[in-house]
Amino acid sequence: MLAREDEAIFRRSWQYVGVLGEQNVVPGWAGRAPVVVVRAEDGRERAFINVCRHRGSVVVEEAGSRKSLQCPYHAWTYDLEGTLRAAPRSDREDVDLSDVALEPVRLEGWGPFRFVNLDGGAPSLEAVLGDVPERVAEVMDVDDLAFHHRSDWEVEANWKIACENFLECYHCPVAHPGFSGVVDVSPDNYALETGEWHWSQFGQLRSRGDAELPVGQFHFIWPNTGINIFPGQKNLSIGPMLPLSPDRTRRILDYFFAPDASEEWIAELTEFDDEVGREDRRLVELVQRGAGSGAIAEGRLLPESERLVAGFQARVREALASFAGSDAVTTP
Ligand code: FES
Ligand SMILES: [Fe+2]
Repeated sequence: MLAREDEAIFRRSWQYVGVLGEQNVVPGWAGRAPVVVVRAEDGRERAFINVCRHRGSVVVEEAGSRKSLQCPYHAWTYDLEGTLRAAPRSDREDVDLSDVALEPVRLEGWGPFRFVNLDGGAPSLEAVLGDVPERVAEVMDVDDLAFHHRSDWEVEANWKIACENFLECYHCPVAHPGFSGVVDVSPDNYALETGEWHWSQFGQLRSRGDAELPVGQFHFIWPNTGINIFPGQKNLSIGPMLPLSPDRTRRILDYFFAPDASEEWIAELTEFDDEVGREDRRLVELVQRGAGSGAIAEGRLLPESERLVAGFQARVREALASFAGSDAVTTP
């Protein structure tokens, strides 16, 4: 099933990779496919499959500031346009490598955020983001944000369980006492919105006071990108839920704050978010153990509080169905 999802979902959708700042080479993933986003000296940005055309090693392991991309295996070296520039011993042997280049992939951006898509025929990033950039722009200019840090962790659960957990706050009063003490998670005051390719939640502070951001925004972009704006001061975190195996998911979140944000507020927000993350980890791992056992055939959803989950599940089913019948995937 994961191999089918990789073909039907991850290779056909926009995948958040990161931001190009001081670092002009940033690796990431489009599902299981390694990708890399680069900015050349002339400012042009490109994205490639991050797999060496020699014998297939991943080329770039870490983000950094580089003038070329050198494979760690036999030192084949590509320029920032993806063209092979050097291969040790290739001048001594009867081989023509002039046509070798990293495979380009689609690259699009929203503000500083860079996304790739392995499907040339997929709708534009702009179309998939829908009104999310507009809603975010109501409270902050994403181009004014400064990248602060990346958090990167794993949960023992299928990626869809992690996504579904992001898509409802029905569990908040039960499982997130800290969050629910600050944000009004009652059904009358917590708004859910559905777009064509995204699902959004809006939660307001219980006591607004003079908060710069009285309303939090939690957006989910098909198929696996979460965006969090907690109420309080300017902050945004964004990142994917990446399947590592059927029951393991990698969570990456890049955190951004106003350039003049105090380290004290950043520490406070980060601790608050980590607490919510620990609580969610336990929940999704419990679902993996329960639902993943196969002991029950299916669950139930509340029609209002869990309608974003239903929307996500419908998209997953649709993507897999549109792919069924294709012989492009063989069972691994
Ligand atoms: S696999 Fe990259 S140089 Fe050999
Ligand atoms: Fe949660």
